[in-house]
Amino acid sequence: MKVILSLFALLIVVVSGYGLLSSKKANPYISQEPEVLVIPLGLPPIPWPADNPYAKNKADLGQLLYFDKRLSTDGTISCASCHSIPRAFTDGKSIAQGIEGRMGTRHSPTVIDAAYQTHLFWDGRAKTLEEQCKGPIANPKEMTLVVDNVHEAHRQCQEHIMKIEGYKPLFREVFGKDTCESDTCTIEQISKAVATFERTVLSGNSPYDKYMAGDLKAMTEEQIYGLKVFNHVGCANCHFGPIFSDGRFLNIGVGMDKENPDLGRYMITHDPKDWGAFKVSTLREIEHTAPYMHDGSIKTLEEVVEYYDKGGIPNSNLHPLLKPLHLTEKDKKALVSFMKALSGEGWQHFKEPKKFP
Ligand code: HEC
Ligand code: HEC
Repeated sequence: MKVILSLFALLIVVVSGYGLLSSKKANPYISQEPEVLVIPLGLPPIPWPADNPYAKNKADLGQLLYFDKRLSTDGTISCASCHSIPRAFTDGKSIAQGIEGRMGTRHSPTVIDAAYQTHLFWDGRAKTLEEQCKGPIANPKEMTLVVDNVHEAHRQCQEHIMKIEGYKPLFREVFGKDTCESDTCTIEQISKAVATFERTVLSGNSPYDKYMAGDLKAMTEEQIYGLKVFNHVGCANCHFGPIFSDGRFLNIGVGMDKENPDLGRYMITHDPKDWGAFKVSTLREIEHTAPYMHDGSIKTLEEVVEYYDKGGIPNSNLHPLLKPLHLTEKDKKALVSFMKALSGEGWQHFKEPKKFP
């Protein structure tokens, strides 16, 4: 019987390819299904990093930490404060607002399908989700009251979490016996757990994915026409691939008419070609993540289309594809309709934990 059961388990792992069965011990704080990780239609396997592979108990621990306000200095802000489930892992604000109501400088992008992003942040300054996670924890406009001392901000966060008795068995189960017994329950482990959770927050199996897989009725006539316009006027030159972002940093002019514009990727690379350039956004779940752009300056998808139709905001580094498009009213409506065909599933089943360790 035991042999048959383990063969069955093996089969599920093999069939799902990239899924894993949960560990035997269930986390008492997280109960939701599914136990087996399902990758929605249209998405490739999740690229799990070699030094942080998937484990269900790690994703569950990460989910707790993601929603736990005690990661912040004064216990008021969690990752979910700015990337919340009902808003498709964004916050609905133009510019993010963090600890003590402090205003940030940019709009909160979605965490959905972040597993497939080759760089994180609008300017791509983090290469992995693990590295990204350490950013907000040490950002005095987001989760810490410690100013200009990343190491100290991380140390305090780690100390907060370590003091919570209920977390200790969970960290031990995920990261090994010694963890949390001395001072080894680290910011690295917090980030690894949070990143594992984030990689399971997906969106695929949208009308577009079904259409592409051969279900020609999955998109409306207007959406099918919108897809043609999307390809024809060049949107697809930048927004393509499984998450509709090619991962490049480009200048499409957003915010360039401000007195001191955000220079985006240029501030990281100091390469003139990156002047005013931002990461090409994913368009998955775009219907649910308004407002839009790195500065949250565009309120609706209709206005985004108007922005592209007029050719963006002129500046010395504007991408050549940004030029007046002369779209008809029908084209504009169809483009918006098509973008709504990119609303799928793979994230709605997550719930904010009701209780914490
Ligand atoms: C105060 C609001 C706020 C909090 C709290 C916050 N974030 Fe963010 N998040 C943002 C903003 C704003 C950006 C974009 C910043 C930039 O590009 O410079 C961002 C970017 C990201 C990205 C990059 C997405 C992409 O496509 O590039 C991820 C992933 C992310 N946050 C996850 C987290 C996690 C995990 C936490 C908790 C440890 C967290 N955030 C806490 C506002 C917030
Ligand atoms: C030259 C490359 C390029 C082309 C062409 C392009 N985009 Fe974009 N798109 C971007 C970049 C880069 C951003 C992020 C810019 C920023 O925030 O400053 C973006 C942002 C967006 C956003 C907002 C995403 C968010 O989460 O805030 C939408 C919607 C969008 N594009 C739709 C379109 C449509 C529709 C077209 C065709 C009419 C199009 N794009 C053409 C590069 C491009």
